[in-house]
Amino acid sequence: MLPITLTVDGARTTVEVEPRETLADVLRDRLGVYGVRVACGEGHCGACTIQLDGATARACTLLAVQADGGAIRTVEGMAPTGAPLHPLQAAFVAEHALQCGFCTAGMLMSAEELLRERPQASDDEIRAGLAGNLCRCTGYQGIVRAVRRARDEANEGEAR
Ligand code: FES
Ligand code: FES
Repeated sequence: MLPITLTVDGARTTVEVEPRETLADVLRDRLGVYGVRVACGEGHCGACTIQLDGATARACTLLAVQADGGAIRTVEGMAPTGAPLHPLQAAFVAEHALQCGFCTAGMLMSAEELLRERPQASDDEIRAGLAGNLCRCTGYQGIVRAVRRARDEANEGEAR
């Protein structure tokens, strides 16, 4: 076992891990961050998407030791317990952008990075930005509408 230090949603922690353990397994099984989903477990679907040092990454194909010293953001950090929903989360609710919800955490992580880097993202850029996240339920229309809504609300806020 190796000790690694992670800052997860703002909380710094040291945890002992096996060298072969994925970041997804360590987040869920050792640190109780169940908002991180695992579906394919092979890097194909994007369900496990988190942000590592500000950039999206697939937690199922990253070894936990590779994230040693890193700052990890998960869906659980978007709206801590008792806090209002993050604007993207509220937009997903308003636009009915989820059904089973299994893809949602990863979608939100990718969408947050997209709008942070491209606040004026076009619809095509939104679709391209979410292309690595698969949804088996919604047909994507509500998800694209939700990201568009969050984009427009943020830009209206800036203009005021
Ligand atoms: S669970 Fe990680 S990409 Fe599918
Ligand atoms: S809401 Fe079910 S997979 Fe996307």
